[in-house]
Amino acid sequence: MPIHTSPTYWILETRNTAYSFGLNDSGLLTHCHWGARLPFVADYPAPINPVYWAADGASHFTPEEFPSNNGAKYIDPALKVTFADGVRDAVFEFVDFALVDSFTLEIRLKDSYYPLHLTLHYRVHEEYDLIERWATLENRSAEPIQVERLFSAKWTLPPSGGDDYFLTHMFGHHVDEFHMVREPLTKGVKVIESKRIITSFQHTPWFALDRNASEDAGEVWFGTLAWSGNWKIAAEVADYHSTRVNIGWNDWDFTWRLQPNQSLQTPPALAGYTPSGFGAASRLLHDYVRDTVIPHGKILHKVLYNSWEATTFNVDEASQSALAEIAAKMGVELFVMDDGWFHKRNLDNAGLGDWWPDEIKFPNGLGGLIQKVNALGMDFGLWVEPEMVNPDSDLYRAHPDWVIHFPTRARTEMRNQLILNMARADVQDYIIEALDKLLRENNITFIKWDMNRHVTEPGWQDAPGDPREIWVRYVEGLYHVWGTLRERHLRVIWQSCASGGGRADFGILRFADQVWTSDNTEATSRLNIQEGYSQYLPANTMEAWVTDADAENVPLEFRFHVSMCGSLGVGGNLLEWDQSERQVGAECIRQYKEIRHIVQFGDQYRLRSPQKNPFSAVQYVSKDRSESVLFAFRVHIPDFVSVVKLPPIYPRGLDPEALYVIEGFDRPRSGKAWMETGVDVNLKNMQSKMLRIRKVAP
Ligand code: GLA
Repeated sequence: MPIHTSPTYWILETRNTAYSFGLNDSGLLTHCHWGARLPFVADYPAPINPVYWAADGASHFTPEEFPSNNGAKYIDPALKVTFADGVRDAVFEFVDFALVDSFTLEIRLKDSYYPLHLTLHYRVHEEYDLIERWATLENRSAEPIQVERLFSAKWTLPPSGGDDYFLTHMFGHHVDEFHMVREPLTKGVKVIESKRIITSFQHTPWFALDRNASEDAGEVWFGTLAWSGNWKIAAEVADYHSTRVNIGWNDWDFTWRLQPNQSLQTPPALAGYTPSGFGAASRLLHDYVRDTVIPHGKILHKVLYNSWEATTFNVDEASQSALAEIAAKMGVELFVMDDGWFHKRNLDNAGLGDWWPDEIKFPNGLGGLIQKVNALGMDFGLWVEPEMVNPDSDLYRAHPDWVIHFPTRARTEMRNQLILNMARADVQDYIIEALDKLLRENNITFIKWDMNRHVTEPGWQDAPGDPREIWVRYVEGLYHVWGTLRERHLRVIWQSCASGGGRADFGILRFADQVWTSDNTEATSRLNIQEGYSQYLPANTMEAWVTDADAENVPLEFRFHVSMCGSLGVGGNLLEWDQSERQVGAECIRQYKEIRHIVQFGDQYRLRSPQKNPFSAVQYVSKDRSESVLFAFRVHIPDFVSVVKLPPIYPRGLDPEALYVIEGFDRPRSGKAWMETGVDVNLKNMQSKMLRIRKVAP
C-alpha cells in the first residue's frame, strides 16, 4: 500500500521515496519527512513540538503542511482569506481524513469559528517517485469570503544544518527561453512568477533544490505546477534554516469571491525527490508526462514541415503546394501551413478572430491544398491563434466588448492585437464554433495553437464575481474550449505555442502533445534552449525545426542533429535549398525515422551541458537499454584551447554487463567500459556527430 494511515499520522510512499506528516501535540498538521523511503513504518519521524520563543509563537517554528495567516507566525502562508465580517485570518483545525483510493488521500480541516472547510489532497505516483498535491476551499457559510491567496502546496525540505540548499530555476525571454541558473538559497523569500496570464518564458514554473547535486548524483527536490496562467513559486529560508516552497496561482492582483456553498479548487502541484541528481529528476518527470499527462504519449510524432519561416504571411495554394512537393520527397509526413491563411490576413495587423480561409488566397477554401498534401502522402496541419483579435477584423467590429480592457484606459496593443476574454461564455462559444467548423469541414490532423501577447489592462466588466478572478477564469475558459475541441476531434494532435515556449507547462500538456519550443531556430541557441526545456519536459513534446537561421555559419547536418534531439520538423525555405541540401535533409530524416523511438520514448541523459560548454553531448537510451543514440556538438572553441584534444564523452544508462557496439568504433565493449572510459568524438568547430549504440550481447 503506498499510503499508510493512522488517526494522526500519514505516510505516502513511492517506489524509492516517502513523504510523511502528522498532527503534533498542538493539533497542527506538521510536515515530518520528504526523502528516501524508509524500511519500516515506525522509522518515520514524529511531528515536532516547537516551543514558544520570544517574538514568535510555537507555530512559527512548526513546519506546517499548509500554514494559513494566523497567530504569532510570520512564515509565508499558503492561504489567506478575509471573512465577511472583516476578520482577516483563518485558523484551521483537523477534522478527519479519507482514503479516496489506494493512491489518494484527503485531509479535511475546518476553521475554528467560521464554516470554511479546507481539504488537502495528496496523490501518490508510485512509479514516478512523485507526489501530487492540491487544495480545495469550501464556503459553507451564508456570506461570501474573499480568498486572497490559495496555493496548491507548500513543500517542506528536510531541516538543514545551515543555508545549504541551492535553488535552480529558469528564466528567459522571447527567442531566448529556458536559461538555467543555480544559486544558493539564502534567508528570505525568493520569488519566481508569471503575471502575464500565460505560463511565460520570463520564468518557468519549475524548481529544483539540491544539496551539492550534479547531473548524475546527489539529492534533488524538484517540482512544478500544472497551470497555464499566472503562477508563483516562493522559496523561503526562515529562522533556524527552515526551508519551504510555496507553489500555486499567483496571488498578485488576485482575489476570489467565494460565494456561499461554493468551493474553489487549485491546480495540482507535483514534486519529487531523488538522490541521483538532476538527470534522474528530469527522467522521472519525462516518464510521468509521457505516460500520464499528454493525450497521445504512445504515438511517435511525425516529421513535419512548417511554412512560417519560408513564406510568412504570403501563403496560397500554389506556394504551399510547391513547398509540399519538395517536403514530401524529403520524407516529411505532416505539412503545416502557418499564419496568413485566413480572412484578410496579409500582415500581422488584420484578420485575427475571423477563422475562415481568405477569399483571395484560397477562393475555393482549403480543400484543394489539403487534397494535394494528402495525395503526396502527408497529413495536413494548420496554425491558429484563437484567443486573439485584431481591431481590424469582423469579430472585433461586431464585439469590441469581448476583449480584456478597462473602459477608461487605452487598449494597449501588442503585435496589433488584443486578447479576447476567455472567461466569458460567449467568447468560449464563438471560438469552439469557429474551430469546430474548420475541423469538421477539412481533413486537418494537427493544430498549432498560438498565443502571441500578454495581458494588459486586466479589466472584466460584468464579471459575475470579483473581476480579479479573471486570472484564473481565463485559463479555465481556455481549458474548456481546448478540451471541448479535443473531445470532438480526438485524432487531432495539438501544439502549444506562445511566441515559442511561452506556454509550456503540465496544465496545457493535458490538451497539447507538443510545444513549439522557441521562435529562435538558430541551432546553437537551440542547444541551450533545449537543455533547459529538458529539465522538466520530454523530448517528444519538444518540436524542433531545421531552418535557414544562420545557415552561412551552421552546417545543415549540424542543424538537423540539433532538431533530431526532439520531435523533428523542417522550417527552412525548401524552394531555395539546392539538390545537395535536399539530399542531406532527406538522409537526416531517414536516419531520424530509425532513431526517433529512442529519442521520443527513451531515457535522456545530458552528458555535457551546452549552456556551460562549447562542446556538448546528449544521449537517449531505449527503455530496454538495447539501443541508444548519442549526439555531440562542438560550437566555437578557439584552436589554442582545444589544441590537444576534446575531453571524452561518457555515455550513460547502458547495461554495465552487456556488450555494446558504438558506431565508428570497431570493438564491442561492455556498457560499463564505455561508461567508465568514455568515447572520443573529435569534432572541428561547428561540427556535430550522431553515434548509434547497439547492444550486441547477451
Ligand atoms: C509566433 C509563432 C511563430 C509563428 C508566428 C506566426 O511568433 O511563435 O512560430 O507561428 O507567430 O505569426
